[in-house]
Amino acid sequence: MKWILFLGALIGSGICCQQKFRGDQVFRVNVRNGDEISKLTQLMDSNHFKLNFWKSPSNFKRPVDLLVPSINLQSVKHFLKTQGLEYSVTIDDLQDLLDIEDEEMQLNEGKERSDSNFNYGAYHSLEAIYHEMDSIAADFPKLASRVKIGQTFEKRPMYVLKFSTGGGKRRPAIWLNAGIHSREWISQATAIWTARKIASEYGNDPAVTSILKKLDIFLLPVANPDGYVYTQTQNRLWRKTRSLNPGSHCIGTDPNRNWNASFAGKGTSDNPCSEVYHGPHAHSEVEVKSVVDFIQQHGNFKCFIDLHSYSQLLMYPYGYTVKKAPDAEELDEVARRAAKALASLSGTEYEVGPTCTTVYPASGSSIDWAYDNGIKYSFTFELRDTGHYGFLLPANQIIPTAEETWLGLKTIMEHVRDNLY
Ligand SMILES: *[C@@H]1O[C@H](CO)[C@@H](O)[C@H](O)[C@H]1NC(C)=O
Ligand SMILES: [Zn+2]
Repeated sequence: MKWILFLGALIGSGICCQQKFRGDQVFRVNVRNGDEISKLTQLMDSNHFKLNFWKSPSNFKRPVDLLVPSINLQSVKHFLKTQGLEYSVTIDDLQDLLDIEDEEMQLNEGKERSDSNFNYGAYHSLEAIYHEMDSIAADFPKLASRVKIGQTFEKRPMYVLKFSTGGGKRRPAIWLNAGIHSREWISQATAIWTARKIASEYGNDPAVTSILKKLDIFLLPVANPDGYVYTQTQNRLWRKTRSLNPGSHCIGTDPNRNWNASFAGKGTSDNPCSEVYHGPHAHSEVEVKSVVDFIQQHGNFKCFIDLHSYSQLLMYPYGYTVKKAPDAEELDEVARRAAKALASLSGTEYEVGPTCTTVYPASGSSIDWAYDNGIKYSFTFELRDTGHYGFLLPANQIIPTAEETWLGLKTIMEHVRDNLY
């Protein structure tokens, strides 16, 4: 009995089984022309050298970031050189960053245990985030409530925070989504900060007060809970869900390629081992299906915002086609104002545009589904940074990121408030 408890404690603390990335490096490849893009696309599709593409090749000469396992450093360098590809090393030893992150988290957990105050400047376990959602609902009982919208593949509950000042069940509403890609930790952290912000600004900030007079807000801070737990217990860089794929040893589907919007189209893969595997059919992932069912049953969402990282981009539909969305001009105008508001805090620059022509084609994404299902104001944020830390953004950037993002979010929500349809 005792050793079982001990083992449980080890697994619970995350020390036991986390994959190590000692000596692994992140390379940034500077892409100069179409030929180089196709070389990198081939490299990605070949799964050669066990590379993990942090930033995939894009049509637009954007740099590509690759995580290179230490055992393949020499061969990858050789490959890039012989192909004439120019690169630099952005992260010298990934494990160094992971060790710092882990140590900070554990220190913070100890502190929070003793003073039982949620520290918004730290990364948290799923359990801690869920607990904080409860605390927000308890602190603002007239405004906020925690609603269970479903259960994950591994049977964890999925919770949203609902902010409502009344006005019936089907008041026009805003959906805020984060963490659909589990390794993008700044998104879940920004979302939970935003939840507390919405609640505490109601009645103080006239913009928030007036938004909530007309609209309900639903906030899902951890859209992929199984993946999130997996990033904290097994592999920090896990992106997908944790569902099983019959006939394959590879696990998980990319939940942001799984929506019913040009499902299995451009920018996806039918290989379960791929990071952009679209899944066996649209809404095969119960995490996606739960959101879809909730939004359809509600039937009056006007805005859908999905938080990701990294790259500092604010995008709108479409991802599945280069065709312009019917509302592209309005969405572009709103997004530009939001990006400007965001930058006003500390100068963080965002690029704005439709997903497909700003980064790369991506079919089956959440905001394309939302848009095609009548939710006009659909946006994706790719939060900080532009690649210096990538997915491993240090915790001391959580609050600065959340604060600036808030200005962008508020700009969008105010526009929705003033343009209800
Ligand atoms: C996907 O959308 C199409 C209509 O565009 C519909 O006919 C089909 O039933 C939907 N599939 C799912 C899984 O919702
Ligand atoms: Zn993402």
